[in-house]
Formats: sequence, C-alpha cells, structure tokens
Amino acid sequence: MPAESPLRLAIFASGRGSNALSIIRAAKEGRLSRVEPVLVVCDKPGAPVATRSREEGVPVLEIRPRDFDSKDAYEGAILEHLREKSVDAVALAGYMRLVGPVLIGSFPDRILNIHPSLLPSFPGLAAQKQAIDYGVKMTGVTVHFVDLLMDHGPVIMQKCLPILPEDTEESLSRRLLPIEHEAYLESLDALSRGRLRIEGRRVLWSAD
Ligand code: GRF
Repeated sequence: MPAESPLRLAIFASGRGSNALSIIRAAKEGRLSRVEPVLVVCDKPGAPVATRSREEGVPVLEIRPRDFDSKDAYEGAILEHLREKSVDAVALAGYMRLVGPVLIGSFPDRILNIHPSLLPSFPGLAAQKQAIDYGVKMTGVTVHFVDLLMDHGPVIMQKCLPILPEDTEESLSRRLLPIEHEAYLESLDALSRGRLRIEGRRVLWSAD
C-alpha cells in the first residue's frame, strides 16, 4: 500500500460504541490522519453504536448472526461488504463475539482488539470486575492482534492504571475508558504508518 493512501478501516461493535466513536472522531479531526473509517459492522441491530456512527456519517452494516445457518455463513456475508468497501483492516471495539476462520483468514494480522485488562490476565467478560475480585493492585488495557483464541493474539500496546481501594467495577471501568481510547488511537496510528511488525508473539515497533 503506498504510504499516502489511508488505511481503510472497518470497526466491529456490539453496544455503546465509545471506542468506535473515538476512532471515527479522531480520524475526522486529523488526529488519526492515515485512517479512514469506511464501515461500522454491528451484530446487534439497534445498538447505540449504529445510530452514533451514522450520525458521524459512517455507513453501518447491521447484521444478525442468527439470520445465518452458521458462523462461516455470517462472516462470509460480512466479508462481501468488507471487500465491497476495500477494507484494509478491522478494529474490534466492544464486539461481543469471537472472530472465526473466515474473517481471520481474509485479514491475517489485520484485525485488532481492545481489552480492558493487562492480558493474559483476565480475558473474557467483565475484565474490570475480575481484576478487582482477584485483588490485583494494577490493571490496564491491552490492544492486540486477533487470532482464533479469545483475547489472545500478539500484544501491540498496554497501558497501566492502579486499582484504588474504593474502586468498584463501575468506577474502574470509567477510569479505564479514556485509556482504552488513547491506546487504540496510538495503535491504529502505528498500524496505519506501517510501524508494526510481528515476530512470533512479539510485536515490534519501528520508528515513524
Ligand atoms: C470496552 O471496555 C472494550 O474494551 C470492551 O468492551 C467495552 C466496549 O465499550 N471490549 P464501547 O462500546 O467501546 O464503549
């Protein structure tokens, strides 16, 4: 891809959409100057992320997995839309399902995810509550490449945050959210500038 052409990004989301909106706005405002969000894929028709993304002028594909016979068929249908929009990479942003072989195979090392813990600790749902319940004193966020396992692929970036004695799941989630947004923008910017190289499980960053 020539350096000057923007990375055509699809964002997959299921709910509120704060990460999706943060990416869309950053791209619009030139803070993510080499990323162009071209499609939002929402597996929960009617979710706030769908409305909010349309309001920002990004097309939304609302698509329900249960309308398909299999996961492969569901992802195959999504893939057609991604191809139609010449999508280069995918950002999962609160997409509440595992990505399968159809999409992973079509976008090798081009699908990213954000997770609200320091992986490999606390993968899966309610990561903030898992961290509080375990009693760790530090937690954070992880941006990683996506493979077939849950919250598992090579780590691109992590940012830390102390857990306070008075933290609840809600307060910790609220304090982590701006850090999620920041880490995702920095990671996508690096991806769009060709700065990320994967060696085994390690992601190496080159200078800009
Ligand atoms: C975020 O905490 C993200 O890390 C997790 O799901 C949440 C989605 O929030 N995977 P939002 O929809 O981006 O506001």
